Amino acid sequence: MIRFNEHSVFSLLAFILLLSSRVIAVPAATPKPSFVSIPLTPASNSSEELQGPVVLQQHINRGLRRLARMTGRQSPSDYDLLSAIRNRILNLPSGRRSHYKLDKINETLAALHQRLHAKTPGSVATRDEDSVLSTNASSIHNTHLSIEAQDYGYMAQLKIGSNQTVFTLLVDSGSSDLWVPAEGCHGDDGGDCGPHTALGPHVSKTFNATKQPWSINYVSGAVSGYLVRDDVTIAGLKMTAHEFGVATNETKDFTPDSIPFDGLLGTGKDTLSRQGVPTLLTSLYKAKRISAPIISYKLPRWADFKNDGEMTLGGMDPQHYDPKTVVTMKNINTFGYWAVDVGAVQIGSTDLKWSNRTILMDTGTTLMIAPQADVDAIHSHIPGSKRDDSGSWTVPCNMTTVLSLTIGGKKFPLDPRDIAFFQVEGGSPDCMSGIAAGGVGPFYQNNDWLVGDVFLKNVYFSTDDEKNTVTIAKQK
Ligand SMILES: *[C@@H]1O[C@H](CO)[C@@H](O)[C@H](O)[C@H]1NC(C)=O
Ligand SMILES: *[C@@H]1O[C@H](CO)[C@@H](O)[C@H](O)[C@H]1NC(C)=O
Ligand SMILES: *[C@@H]1O[C@H](CO)[C@@H](O)[C@H](O)[C@H]1NC(C)=O
Ligand SMILES: *[C@@H]1O[C@H](CO)[C@@H](O)[C@H](O)[C@H]1NC(C)=O
Ligand SMILES: *[C@@H]1O[C@H](CO)[C@@H](O)[C@H](O)[C@H]1NC(C)=O
Ligand SMILES: *[C@@H]1O[C@H](CO)[C@@H](O)[C@H](O)[C@H]1NC(C)=O
Ligand SMILES: *[C@@H]1O[C@H](CO)[C@@H](O)[C@H](O)[C@H]1NC(C)=O
Ligand SMILES: *[C@@H]1O[C@H](CO)[C@@H](O)[C@H](O)[C@H]1NC(C)=O
Repeated sequence: MIRFNEHSVFSLLAFILLLSSRVIAVPAATPKPSFVSIPLTPASNSSEELQGPVVLQQHINRGLRRLARMTGRQSPSDYDLLSAIRNRILNLPSGRRSHYKLDKINETLAALHQRLHAKTPGSVATRDEDSVLSTNASSIHNTHLSIEAQDYGYMAQLKIGSNQTVFTLLVDSGSSDLWVPAEGCHGDDGGDCGPHTALGPHVSKTFNATKQPWSINYVSGAVSGYLVRDDVTIAGLKMTAHEFGVATNETKDFTPDSIPFDGLLGTGKDTLSRQGVPTLLTSLYKAKRISAPIISYKLPRWADFKNDGEMTLGGMDPQHYDPKTVVTMKNINTFGYWAVDVGAVQIGSTDLKWSNRTILMDTGTTLMIAPQADVDAIHSHIPGSKRDDSGSWTVPCNMTTVLSLTIGGKKFPLDPRDIAFFQVEGGSPDCMSGIAAGGVGPFYQNNDWLVGDVFLKNVYFSTDDEKNTVTIAKQK
């Protein structure tokens, strides 16, 4: 769908007014689309078959690592995160505990503990370089349990090269690099990069390699390659000779058949780019292909079975939001992520009288993660909710209490289904709550909340790189 950019219509008007005394016929202007949209699909629906509290902790761990990065704080160590998982397991009824190899977990913890204390000061905590993969799955693979949840988020498709080859990419608002596998890409296990689409001179005549290397280090390994220029088409908009990365080496976190995406599309700010090149969003804007460096998300809700996720570049898609509910706020995060102040929090009919909470918004996080005291206060107003010894809450799966956040003076309610996150176990009337307290790390003396899909699925969410603002609206 093509829509007119207000700004270009306005300029055209000014142009007509300016010249109208002399010019009679005005050349027809080619209208520029103000924005383009592409579908977003969930990359995974994992976790249903696993044990509620343990899966919850995996999600919390993933969130804590991201929160640390987004607020510039030290990331919790693998030891802390795995300890938190062990505590969850130890709290399970004995029948369910036996699913886990506690002896192996204990062994791994002992080894991690030793490593933690053997290191020189300053290198103690693992630095979480990138937000997408940060599980050292391999270091605890013998437990068949990863430290972090593997729900990656959402995927979109792009076309690259002279042959318009389709790539499925993981969209990550927490990083800013675009990469796809290179032809002949190697996995670190000695194999190739799996059944994933690759790019190179054999599939694209416009493929233009530079000698410039790049690498991105994940806690679990690395992806590296070189920079290239090639034509990238997103939602029908073609960027000629866009600069991005092809990966010649990938760790086995990316290569297996089970990984449903070929590479990554980072949608964060340029400042987060590790390849040191402008993002696709910036390039489209600089090339005047879109009218503003704005990116907007309508995340799909699994429970709605609508498959209506959408990412929009260049503006906000009026199909998806109610214009009466739009609020635009200054971004208060200084690290290249997105955060705004929350004016009030209401649960059911109770106003919690909180006026100084901050939410960091991240499409790559599942839960809402808040300080324990806040999490406890919220749940104390949800009838039937229960807290366990490790500080996590369950809620009745059929809960109807509405939590609302007031942002920019407007109230944004959450669908209770998003809080009743998933069943504690099959047949249980109780669900793990999607509002969780982090149980480890030095994150709880302040008012930062990390809000992922549990909240973001309820709103239309848009960011503007140039104005450094976040816009939120109710979905239509
Ligand atoms: C989740 O994904 C699996 C395959 O990974 C699929 O078999 C299953 O049906 C999906 N669950 C739902 C609820 O669609
Ligand atoms: C693992 O360690 C925990 C905590 O110290 C302990 O309670 C548990 O019995 C240990 N389990 C095994 C199998 O070693
Ligand atoms: C991850 O685990 C592997 C295998 O145990 C190990 O060789 C590697 O050093 C670990 N990486 C980090 C960053 O802990
Ligand atoms: C281009 O795409 C077509 C259709 O998918 C395919 O048949 C052809 O082999 C491709 N060409 C190259 C050079 O990959
Ligand atoms: C490849 O890119 C360089 C710019 O770095 C340019 O000078 C050169 O002409 C390009 N080559 C092709 C074949 O487009
Ligand atoms: C990439 O993989 C190749 C082949 O396995 C290997 O020779 C090379 O050292 C790897 N490069 C990096 C940077 O890991
Ligand atoms: C901000 O929050 C903290 C922690 O909840 C609280 O102690 C403090 O009084 C609050 N400040 C204001 C101005 O509300
Ligand atoms: C929720 O489910 C419980 C049984 O698990 C039932 O007793 C209760 O009436 C239900 N509440 C609502 C509001 O449907």
